Amino acid sequence: MAFAYILTVLFACLLAQSHAAPFNCTEPPNLGQFNIHSCCRMPEMDLGETPAKCVAYIKTLNAQARGMMNGMGGGMNKNNTNNNNNRNAAPAEFPAYAHICYPECIYRETGSLVENEFNMENVKKFLNKSVNKRDKDIVPQIVRSFESCLDNIKGHMAAVGIKTYAKLPMGCSPLASMMYSCVNAETFLHCPAKMWKNEEQCNVAKSFAAQCNPLPHVPLPIG
Ligand SMILES: *[C@@H]1O[C@H](CO)[C@@H](O)[C@H](O)[C@H]1NC(C)=O
Ligand SMILES: *[C@@H]1O[C@H](CO)[C@@H](O)[C@H](O)[C@H]1NC(C)=O
Ligand SMILES: *[C@@H]1O[C@H](CO)[C@@H](O)[C@H](O)[C@H]1NC(C)=O
Repeated sequence: MAFAYILTVLFACLLAQSHAAPFNCTEPPNLGQFNIHSCCRMPEMDLGETPAKCVAYIKTLNAQARGMMNGMGGGMNKNNTNNNNNRNAAPAEFPAYAHICYPECIYRETGSLVENEFNMENVKKFLNKSVNKRDKDIVPQIVRSFESCLDNIKGHMAAVGIKTYAKLPMGCSPLASMMYSCVNAETFLHCPAKMWKNEEQCNVAKSFAAQCNPLPHVPLPIG
């Protein structure tokens, strides 16, 4: 009798723990080696010539950056320690600013970004056109993710009274790369069941993200 009682209590405690225990957000769960990108299968997309075009564009920026650094001497970085593009002074094939300029180029070339504003009609048209038929189920979620992310980021901008983010010296705005990361994270959280790998590690990673990494899922620029 007592034995059964203890077992019942133990079991109830375990159940409560696995369901409700909130995470300590400064301590991500140790899920061992696993690829979080395999949890929500992303759709196959045909971007045509766009990626090659944008890689070529990044190369022109690299050449410009080398020119700027040669022309302005070593002292130019002293006051700009917050700028990503100045952190890696050595010219790399894909320096930090490229992670901001490349997604902007992709969105611009696909018509999703028009004069630095996201155009949702074009985003929808582009997704309809380029996502592989067998992956069409995820398109409405990606559209919702775009809308949630855009609303949230615009809300933050309005709250601090700015209409656009300051551009990098390379001429790119951080908005596109923020949207790219936000849309991915938001789609991960609302991944359609059909594309979700229903495994313990994926489910724990999702619970942690849902609790600890709210919209916009990315750090906001300082300026
Ligand atoms: C969360 O973890 C951090 C770092 O280990 C610790 O300092 C903090 O006290 C923990 N918070 C809670 C609520 O347990
Ligand atoms: C850095 O900025 C400060 C104030 O913003 C300015 O007084 C100083 O001259 C700048 N130094 C360089 C090396 O540009
Ligand atoms: C995209 O496709 C969906 C479903 O096929 C359709 O309802 C929607 O109107 C299309 N949107 C655009 C912008 O073409």
